[in-house]
Amino acid sequence: MRLIIKKNYEDCSVWAANYVAYCIKSFRPTPNKPFILGLCTGSTPLGMYAELIKMYKQGKISFANVVTFNMDEYIGLGPKDTQSYYYFMHENFFNHIDIPQKNIHLLNGLTKNYAKECQDYEDAIKSYGQINLFIGGVGSDGHIAFNEPGSSLTSRTRVKTLTSETIDANSRFFDYDISKVPTSVLTVGIGTIMDAQEVMILANGDKKARAIHHAVEGSINHMWPISILQMHQHSTIVCDEPATNELKADTVRYFKDIEKKLRPET
Ligand code: GLP
Repeated sequence: MRLIIKKNYEDCSVWAANYVAYCIKSFRPTPNKPFILGLCTGSTPLGMYAELIKMYKQGKISFANVVTFNMDEYIGLGPKDTQSYYYFMHENFFNHIDIPQKNIHLLNGLTKNYAKECQDYEDAIKSYGQINLFIGGVGSDGHIAFNEPGSSLTSRTRVKTLTSETIDANSRFFDYDISKVPTSVLTVGIGTIMDAQEVMILANGDKKARAIHHAVEGSINHMWPISILQMHQHSTIVCDEPATNELKADTVRYFKDIEKKLRPET
């Protein structure tokens, strides 16, 4: 596991955006060999999306040969719902870059057939072979995508019921009214995320410190889904200083020391 510790949110966002651009460019994607990018929602990736849009507008990166798969969607919300993840992604990223609409994949929250929707999503990912880079955030309870504590660590795309903690945390996008937050969602599984060639998780603020502690120093446990990253061959967590508040000083020193010696391009 790689742990990138940056001073603040802005530095994390810039680092993550540069890394995404570096991955896409070094892959040299073409229409027949697109780069497959897994994406997430939430407030954490907003800075990274803004940076990527800036880089696109400066001509530094193109998404013409990038195919995306988003992690999750609320059941009952459609593309026109301003709280849907479809809407979020278009508003905050897709509408501002050159990605063709046909390259964008999101789970359909309005589907009547959940099992088919989820299987089709898994099949669509497999049709490209593998997701090259899956970017996610993390909940304060350690959930990744919407895989809440207790989720099977080998789970695939499916329906999940949200915990009260997540409903409460996400109510800020619903006028702070928990009754407006959908209670069930479609989400890729932990196994789906783990199948990606590379996984990058973004975490900011001391609300995420406990999850980062469990991810980096804890043991692998389904009650802290993010801890499964320890089993991935190529996982990176990008976080700010406050998100390291529950790590041992030694751990922080260790990861910072490694980064000082590494890859100038990132
Ligand atoms: C939601 C999303 C997750 C995201 C999490 C954290 O639950 N389904 O993918 O990681 O929120 O969100 P935030 O970045 O706003 O803290």
